[in-house]
This record gives sequence, C-alpha cells and structure tokens, in this order.
Amino acid sequence: ATRSSLPEKDCSSITPPYSQLLDNVSAVRNILGGRPLTLAEKILYSHIHNPAETLSDGKIIRGQTYLQLKPERVAMQDASAQMALLQFMSAGMNRCAVPASIHCDHLIQAVEGAESDLQRSIVTNKEVFDFLESAARKYGIEFWRPGSGIIHQIVLENYAAPGMLMLGTDSHTPNAGGLGMLAIGVGGADAVDALTGTPWELKAPQIVGIHLTGKLNGWATPKDLILHLAGKLTVRGGTGRILEYFGPGVFNQSCTGLATVANMGAEVGATTSTFPYTPSMQAYLQATGRAPVARAADEAASKGFLSADEGVEYDEVIDINLSELEPSINGPFTPDLATPLSKFGSVVEENGWKDEISAGLIGSCTNSSYQDMTSVADLARQAKAAGLKAKVPFLCTPGSEQIRATMERDQVTDALQDVGAVVLANACGPCIGQWKRDDKKGEENAILTSFNRNFKSRNDGNSQTMNFLASPTVVTAMAFSGKLSFNPMTDSIPLPNGQSFKFSPPTGQDLPANGFTPGRTSFYPGPTPEPQPETEIIVKPDSQRLELLEPFESPFGEKNDRGLELPSLKVLMRVRGKCTTDHISAAGPWLKYKGHLTNISENLLITAMNDEGGDVNVAFDHDHDASQSETDTIPNVAKRFKARNQPWALIVDDNYGEGSAREHAALQPRFYGCLMLIARSFARIHETNLKKQGVLPLWFADKSDYSRIDSGDVVETEGLADLLNGNQDATIKLKVIKRNGETFEVPTKHTMSKDQLKWLRAGSALNHIRSQIQ
Ligand code: F3S
Repeated sequence: ATRSSLPEKDCSSITPPYSQLLDNVSAVRNILGGRPLTLAEKILYSHIHNPAETLSDGKIIRGQTYLQLKPERVAMQDASAQMALLQFMSAGMNRCAVPASIHCDHLIQAVEGAESDLQRSIVTNKEVFDFLESAARKYGIEFWRPGSGIIHQIVLENYAAPGMLMLGTDSHTPNAGGLGMLAIGVGGADAVDALTGTPWELKAPQIVGIHLTGKLNGWATPKDLILHLAGKLTVRGGTGRILEYFGPGVFNQSCTGLATVANMGAEVGATTSTFPYTPSMQAYLQATGRAPVARAADEAASKGFLSADEGVEYDEVIDINLSELEPSINGPFTPDLATPLSKFGSVVEENGWKDEISAGLIGSCTNSSYQDMTSVADLARQAKAAGLKAKVPFLCTPGSEQIRATMERDQVTDALQDVGAVVLANACGPCIGQWKRDDKKGEENAILTSFNRNFKSRNDGNSQTMNFLASPTVVTAMAFSGKLSFNPMTDSIPLPNGQSFKFSPPTGQDLPANGFTPGRTSFYPGPTPEPQPETEIIVKPDSQRLELLEPFESPFGEKNDRGLELPSLKVLMRVRGKCTTDHISAAGPWLKYKGHLTNISENLLITAMNDEGGDVNVAFDHDHDASQSETDTIPNVAKRFKARNQPWALIVDDNYGEGSAREHAALQPRFYGCLMLIARSFARIHETNLKKQGVLPLWFADKSDYSRIDSGDVVETEGLADLLNGNQDATIKLKVIKRNGETFEVPTKHTMSKDQLKWLRAGSALNHIRSQIQ
C-alpha cells in the first residue's frame, strides 16, 4: 500500500466548495430543462457567475453561448506572471480575489547540470525573481522559488482537485486535468480577471467524448495515447473544444498518466481535457498529503458531480481501444505527425534521414512522474546489467523538487546516472529553449524528447534540429541504441562480446511505496500566506526588464472637448489581411521585455502589412515636420503620435487579433495612444482584451467601407455618448474627415456590454475596478 510520508496539508483553500458547486449544477440544470450534462459541462456550469442573469434566455448552446465564469484559483509562471502582476497592481486591490501561485521555472537555463544552472539563472534573472517574490508577499500569493519545479507538476502535486476550475498563464495548464478538473491556459489579462474577481468569459466549448476501452500493455504508455490522438485530431482538431475521456479504459490508468494525456491536449488546440474521478486520483491525493480533498471528492462523486450523466450527448465521440495501442513517435516539427513505432524505421529510410539520434531528453512538465521515472530506471538497470551506457547525451529534467528528491531516495537517480544521464534543474530548461547546446549549431540532427512541443527551434534554437516526441521509455531505450530506426520492442543492441541485448518491456510504480519526500523545502512557499500590504514591490528604476504600469487616462477627461464621444482620432494606418497577436506583438527575442511595456512596445505591428502600398512595418506620417521623414516604421510613427498627444485609430481587416490571448497586443497600441480600432471582424479574445485596456473596437457594418478610410484621415464617433448614457440600443456612426476636407459617414456595429462600457469610460477595466474600491 502506498502511504504518504508528507504531512497532511491544510486543505481548506484547495478543496472545491462541492456542496455549493452541486447546488449550482442543479440550478443550471433546471434552467436548461433538465438535460443530461457531460462532466466538463458540470464543472463549467457550476462555476457560472450569476446563472439566472447569464442564462436569461434559458439555454446554453455549445460553441455559441458566452459564459461568465468564476475560476477558483490562478497559477502563473515566471515569464507570464510579470505583466499579469503589473496589471493586477494597477487595480489597487490589497489581496487577490482567489488563491494564486507563482512558479519560477521558465527562466532557468540548462547548461551543465542542476546546481550550477540554478545558481547562474538566479543571478541572471534576479530582478525578475525579486519583483515576483515581493509582489507575491504583498498580495498573499504562494511563491515557488527557482528550483522548486515546473508549474504544472507543482499544481498537480499541491493544488489540483477534482471538479475545480482553474486558470493558468501557460498553455500546458490543462495538465491538472489529470485530477479530474478543468484547468485552462490563458493570457495575463484573463488571469487578472480571476485575480480581481471579475467574471471571466469563455465561449461554451463543444465537448468531444474520447471513449477508452482495453488496457495499455507492453511498451504503450499514456503518452502514446495522446500522441496517437494528436495524429487523429491534428493540431487544430481540439480548437474551441474540451476533450472529455470516459469509459473503462480511464479507470486502469495512473493519475499522473492521465495528467500527461491532459497536458498534451494543448497540442491539438483543445481548451482543456478532463476525466471522471478514479481510484488512482484518490490514491494520488492521499499520497501527496491531501486526504481531506480525497474524502470531499469521494462524497461529491457519490452525488454524481465528478462524472458525466447517463445518456449524455457529445459533439463527437472517438473510440480508442488501449489494448491495441502501440508506442508512437511524433514529428519532426509538428506534434500531430504520428508514426507507430513499428513503422518508424521505414519512415526514417523513406525520408533519407541520418539513422542517428544526437540526444535523448526525458522529464519536463509532461513526463516526470514517479511512474515515468521508475519505468526509465528499470530500462537503465537492464542496460547497465548488459554493460551498456547511453550512446548520446541523455538529459533528465525532474518536474519538481518532490519528484527529484523521491527519485534520489529510491535510487532512481543513481540508476540513471550510472548509465550516463545528466540530471538537470527542476525547471523547464530544454523544453522552452533554455538549453545551451553549442555542438550542433546549424547542423541537421535528430533528438528524441518526452516533452510536448516540437516546433522548429523550440529546444536548442537550431532550426535544423528535428525533434521527435515519444514516451520517456522509448526515448530512453533509443538513447542506448543511438539509432533513429531502433525499435526496442523487436530490435536488439549488439554488445562488444558479440552477443546482443534486448530490453524487456519496462515496469514502473505509479506511486512510491514509501511515500513522497518533499526534498529541500527552502524552495517552497510557507504556509498559506496572508498579504503583507506594507511590502515594497521591487522594481529598479533603471530596469530594462520591468516597468511599473501607469494607469491609462480616461479618453473623456478635460482634454476632450467632445464630451462622451471619443476625441477626434487620426488614422495611423490600414492593416491589410491576416494580423495575429504575433504580428501585433512579436515573440522571440522580445519575450525578455514582457514585464516592460515601453521596451516591448518597440515591436508594435512590426510584421503587419500596410494596405496603402503593401509594405511591412511601414507607416505614413502626414503631419511630419521638416526634421522627420514622411514614412517610418509603425512603432516610430506611433511614438510620434504619442509625442504630439495625438490620439489615433487603426483600420483593420478580418479576424484581427486571432492567435492567442497575449494581452501585450492590446496594451501596446493603447500605450502609444490608440483609442479605437475599426475592423472588418475581430477575433473575440483579442477584442475583449482591447476593451479591457480601454480601446473601443468597432465593426464595419459594411465591410467594403474598410478601403474608404486612409491613414491621416480623422474619424469621430457619433452615438457613443448616447450609449454611455445608458441607451443600449444606440448605434455608433463614424464621421470620416478626409485629408482633403471631404467628409462622409460610416455605419458601424459594436459588441460592448454594459460592464465593458464602464471600462471604456474609466479608461481601462483596471481603472474601473480601482474606482470601485476607492
Ligand atoms: Fe515548461 Fe515545457 Fe512544460 S516550457 S511548462 S516544461 S511545456
């Protein structure tokens, strides 16, 4: 029997309020006329803010209805937490509306091994970690220091609970779905909604039922289930959908295995993934010091909360027989290119790839459970007994200090190091490109990883590195062969003595027989922290990475002589065609400025195309003075407008702002003085982010009006005052004044709700929240 060597935790802040949630489900069920609900629907709908108002028309149409939700918890990683916290600070609250945690994992670079890598990264990123820690102390957020582990593993070990709804500022947040909850990856602005207690909006997702039968056997692991499914669904197949697993095949898998499956639901674009409550979840909760949560979940499950109703309808059902599943290798360069292991050798040959792997990497947030690590240790011991060592660099990133310490105590680490493995810091490391790998620069080579993403350059910055995703056991076995075509299920490795060695299928243990050991608790947060309001937030005045946010001014202040209409705006440019959040605020080298709005704004729209002339990153400044050129880069022209105190507008095309929830794409134009965007159409999340920053998004009523407005034209709203004065039916027209003096009107549509109009009036959602507190 597994026992916990961890002391039982205080579970009061991590146990979902089950009786309240059950009441909410019945209330929503009544409103919906008593139809059977899927598990994902139960969890989502039990977190609806004010169901009677939100569902006033008595229905939820999956894929259409917008839900206003109240998440229970927020988790943030060190890169994305910066802007989320800077925004939260400007709301003027003295504590978060829900429990939250910060995890220092993404900024730690892997060079030579755990200890020195950690110390070096702490020095390099000191100002960011100091800022995060001081903000955590001030607002009562749990702060997991560098070295404590990777956000998703720590959430699974400490915070996740069946039936919970949680937001995380990282795309693999769904990992926590392994404990039968809904954990959703979002941008910082969404996290700020939850942190400030503002209802968080989500379009009711469609629900895909994944029906599992049979049992995994031999070399097949939960990783292979999701690799197989990624091949079926492709990288877009889960968009706007939740993957809800059901059937007998769910019940014979470990909780951590289910977490791996949920983690990589992100690879098919799914909103998140979840599973009904199982005995393995109960055992995992007990083993991680959370028996009270398990008891509460047992009771909630007995009342039908933690599984789907009988006779429920899914939007699509996919059947998978686990007994027939074989290991899969996915890649290169996309996670949905799935090849069964037995066929991979011929794929290597057909593509003419060099039959060589250059490194094997295991662990990360996806695959560093006790089960994963004991399974790979089994293979390592088999290999050692045959006199083998890993043929290529073999790197392991434990997901948390708890896993690392338990591995060490149970001689798992010894088994790996005996065959040449290097154990890296408990952090993201090579998974997020924090891997200093000099020897393969620019050279075509193949690596095998048990991570979750394999886009070009993701791991070592080399676009020639082919990254194949596989289970940790397949990666490990292949590291001993060194060959890309090696199939450990059937092939042998020649030994120096002329004999050959074949692996037996690996076996591991779900949970440690002697319980988990916490390791170095100095990395951990203290007991649930109370806010310490007197704490000073640490941001150096000359910092290039962090900058406190100045609240945006309301556009309806003294300087505006148009009352409750927006001031006269000058059109900065007309953006042509596809313009994603990546075009608006590029990533890559700019990521280091995520916490510094002035610095990151230098990338505003630098890959967007100007419809006047068709050039990228070119804008016209019709008011330039003698010392300035008429054309310049887009950020430079935006800066000129800002320097002149000239508020401005953008004309944009269809589906503007698609791609991600990156709040910088709304913050940056606002920072330079943008107050309105008029689009052929908007991507919804970005449109909401613009509203949060106090920018008015309008839609052309007639899309052909798009080409009638040019840079340098002046646009004025007419009808906004009426709307702001409470006439919800008011429409907004635009008066366009061309540079030659000609004027005409353009009808528009808007999607501003009553609350969103308050944000606009205050200058931003955070200004509005602050005014409510004062
Ligand atoms: Fe980190 Fe990679 Fe996971 S970046 S959070 S280990 S996906």
